[in-house]
Amino acid sequence: MRAVWAETGGGAEVLRIVERALPEPQANQIRIRVAAAGINNADIVQRKSGIAPAGAPPGLGLEVSGTVDAVGEDVADWSVGQRVCALLDGGGYGDFALADARSVLPVPDDITHCEAAGLPEALLTVWQNLVVSGNCQPGDTVLVHGGGSGIGSMAVQVAKMLGARVATTAGSPERCNRLTELGADRAINHNEEDFVTIVSEMGGADVILDIVGGPYLNRNLAAAREGARIVQIAFLEGGETTIDLALLQHKRLALTGSKLRPRSAAHKGELTDAIRRFVWPTVARRGITAVIDRIFPLAEVADAHRYFEARRHFGKVILDLQN
Ligand SMILES: NC(=O)c1ccc[n+]([C@@H]2O[C@H](COP(=O)([O-])OP(=O)(O)OC[C@H]3O[C@@H](n4cnc5c(N)ncnc54)[C@H](OP(=O)(O)O)[C@@H]3O)[C@@H](O)[C@H]2O)c1
Repeated sequence: MRAVWAETGGGAEVLRIVERALPEPQANQIRIRVAAAGINNADIVQRKSGIAPAGAPPGLGLEVSGTVDAVGEDVADWSVGQRVCALLDGGGYGDFALADARSVLPVPDDITHCEAAGLPEALLTVWQNLVVSGNCQPGDTVLVHGGGSGIGSMAVQVAKMLGARVATTAGSPERCNRLTELGADRAINHNEEDFVTIVSEMGGADVILDIVGGPYLNRNLAAAREGARIVQIAFLEGGETTIDLALLQHKRLALTGSKLRPRSAAHKGELTDAIRRFVWPTVARRGITAVIDRIFPLAEVADAHRYFEARRHFGKVILDLQN
């Protein structure tokens, strides 16, 4: 089977499509014949370092869609031939991948594999940060930074599903238009408008999902309503800053963050279970979709990484294993 490895760290040119033996599922795993795989920033980080996290398979790829090909002896919920998508520990850019059976979701018939491959990582991340950490409630005002990202475009949709009012930031009028089409109540062009002023005029945010970090933190504190939760998903502009603790104290704010990849299989399974119960019915009627920007064949995986790193995409970038 084909797999994509970064045997040395570096740019997209280090990616190699290699032949590897078919992986055998452990007792609690299923093997998926992969039809499509999502590209995530964690893959870029792994490629640059050339090192997979401890315990993870060496191949790249954290989410796939495809067909169940084999099941481990303790797996009762899945059977060969079912269409599924899954969050993985790694090894998703390849013809076959192993998934913990708890991190698998059924793919409805009218959702393509390329669409389904863009769902697991974004949905689990958004559920963790918006619902578990952010305690998003109906009627809350939610501010999603980087709405045009894979995570952001999913966060906007899930927040709307939960009955929140959504403000979101993006870097151009076109990206803002796409976000209002996705359901955002107010899309803020961060190159031309001040999100603190606009969100304050909306009464302040109850939940803020942030991927920018450093220079945004004090501005997030200013845009927050009393009792708000600010959740750090990433810190693209820097992980260190000085904050006004008086504002934190005065507004009784909670500042938290999380990282999905190192969480236990049991925790990812709990998130998957919640998504299956609370989000999947909306996914099945296409009320929530992975926004797919571009699909690359596996042979063009290096170009796909270059395209992803240019950060001009809106939503998800997908690898098609069937072409
Ligand atoms: N904590 C977790 O568990 C977890 C899980 C998954 C992903 N992440 C992280 O979440 C972030 C988003 O992931 P993704 O895959 O959705 O990203 P992505 O699709 O590559 O999107 C990144 C987008 O963020 C926006 N952005 C805003 N400020 C930015 C800045 N200072 N630098 C660069 N881009 C900026 C840009 O859109 P505009 O030009 O429109 O602003 C850019 O297109 C990544 O950093 C990723 O590592 C964290």
